[in-house]
Amino acid sequence: MDKSDGADLSRRVWRLLGAYMLRDKWLLFVALLSAIGLSGTGLLSAKIMSDLFDALKVGNAAKLNLYSLAIVGVYVVRWFFVYGEMVYFAEAGQRLGLRLRSAIYTHLQSLSLRFFNKQRTGALMSTINNDVPLLQSSIASLKDLAPAPFQVIGGIAICIWISPKLSLAAMIVIPLMAAIINWLTKQIKGITSRTQDKLSDVNTIMEETLSGIRVIQSFSAEQHEIARFDRENHNAKELFMQSVRRQANLKPSVDVIGAIGISFALWVGGNLVVGHQLSFAHLVYFIGLLNQVAVGLNGLGGAKVTWEQIRAASERILDNVLDVEPDIRSAPDAVSLPEIQGLIEFRNVDFAYVPGTPVLSNISFTMNPGEVVAVVGKTGSGKSTIADLIPRFYDPDAGSVTVDGHDLRAVTVQSLRKHIAIVPQETMLFGGTIRDNIAYGNPDATDEMVEQAARAANAHDFISNPNVLPDGYNTIVGERGKQLSGGQRQRVAIARALIKNPRILILDEATSALDNQSETLVQQALDELMQGRTTLVIAHRLSTVVNADRILVMQNGRIAESGTHAELLRIPDGIYAQLYETQFRWEVETPQVGAPL
Ligand SMILES: Nc1ncnc2c1ncn2[C@@H]1O[C@H](COP(=O)(O)OP(=O)(O)O)[C@@H](O)[C@H]1O
Ligand SMILES: [Mg+2]
Repeated sequence: MDKSDGADLSRRVWRLLGAYMLRDKWLLFVALLSAIGLSGTGLLSAKIMSDLFDALKVGNAAKLNLYSLAIVGVYVVRWFFVYGEMVYFAEAGQRLGLRLRSAIYTHLQSLSLRFFNKQRTGALMSTINNDVPLLQSSIASLKDLAPAPFQVIGGIAICIWISPKLSLAAMIVIPLMAAIINWLTKQIKGITSRTQDKLSDVNTIMEETLSGIRVIQSFSAEQHEIARFDRENHNAKELFMQSVRRQANLKPSVDVIGAIGISFALWVGGNLVVGHQLSFAHLVYFIGLLNQVAVGLNGLGGAKVTWEQIRAASERILDNVLDVEPDIRSAPDAVSLPEIQGLIEFRNVDFAYVPGTPVLSNISFTMNPGEVVAVVGKTGSGKSTIADLIPRFYDPDAGSVTVDGHDLRAVTVQSLRKHIAIVPQETMLFGGTIRDNIAYGNPDATDEMVEQAARAANAHDFISNPNVLPDGYNTIVGERGKQLSGGQRQRVAIARALIKNPRILILDEATSALDNQSETLVQQALDELMQGRTTLVIAHRLSTVVNADRILVMQNGRIAESGTHAELLRIPDGIYAQLYETQFRWEVETPQVGAPL
């Protein structure tokens, strides 16, 4: 990274901190003041102790009383500083976390599918779970940093004033000790973080197992997984013990070096006391100050590490999320579409997910209001991609998609999507009640509307059957609606689409994952849903295709043939004709079996 990049990064980090942390200037100010006050009481009580010893030496009982009381007084004042430091730093840190998480979540909602295709969910989760807490805890470390300059400069100045000779001795020994202790501490930290990594490996296996339990059990691979888990589990324990043993070796060394330092200062100071060059009280004071200086130096030493952590965490938060420009968003002069007829036109559309690998080439077709257009073709021929361009999940690289004559890029994304409902191959339900899931697209929906939609979607019967859903519409569906069958979920999705009452409908192989019996129920519901709406149906069943107003036959990202069923069958050696021969005919002869295209 060159210098200008570094400066640029710092500017971005400051922008982030300014926006999310320095907003609480007063809170931080009080917190810092408390931290400084707290270390001030440290210096003060060292001074009082020394004065107390002086009073003892000359046998001054009045002063002894005074100083004893003063020490209590200092600790009472200290109470306020401790409270201020703990509460206000925590409050500032929590507010930072609160705002950042909210900003990240909000921004993620504005990003397009292109972003989510590229970004791994794990990396995004880690930004919220690791980087945000890291920034939060770095605020806490400000409390060691803030008083450090006072502790160090004030402490050293008073030390020199007490005894320049003793200060000189200390100044030679202390930095040396600090360096050794610093080095040892780093070793300990290194081991701890490797142990953390190992533990997160164990977690990863656990996560995989929980989400893939069906596969594991279906392959009877339990023993294999248990062995794998045991191995990592043992490794983690071994590494942990290794780290404890290393720490157990290192920690007493730190203590020994600390003891050497203190003894050295006591030895030099003691000699000065014996030679009447220093009072005993001043020696006590001096040792107290040395301790303060050491704490301060430690705080300053941590500052660089903290700053690096802040920078790295901020950089990830900015790069992974907050600074990602949404590539799909409404133009400033975009118009809102309150009502539409539902006329859709693709004109010479090219599209690629990855530049240089075209997925759609020169796609042109029209869907008149209320028409049903079926798209057929092999897996990977670009059918779903065409469908994704209509709600503007992606923008075409060339050409245009229009609705009622408006280029999609010239209308607000929200007003466009209000008119579109999608029933995908497999539906995901959200945690919440069945009612919430059906009313998802229309928060104003009444109970009657929800039930009406469910009836039209062939869903009311199973929803109101207490053997299937004990609490009916109030049943909470678990994670992604796992306790419902695929066909039941699809019917909930159709009810959800019905209640939205869209002009445009997209069905992407909505019945392909279903068994025959539920397919029939779902197909009936879909027929109801398609009534009078402009519908793009990616079809795998003959009945849907035959009745379509137009059929597009996709091959390698191009429309190879288009027309009605009858027209397409007339093309000699046509792709559609072949498809019909090999797949649909079979379906006609055995009408119960839906053969996927
Ligand atoms: N998110 C994506 N990123 C990169 N390539 C993709 C993505 N989605 C689909 N593709 C590729 O685009 C092509 C068309 O995919 P798709 O439209 O899903 O086909 P279909 O629905 O006809 O099976 C395929 O080659 C597929 O691998
Ligand atoms: Mg598809």
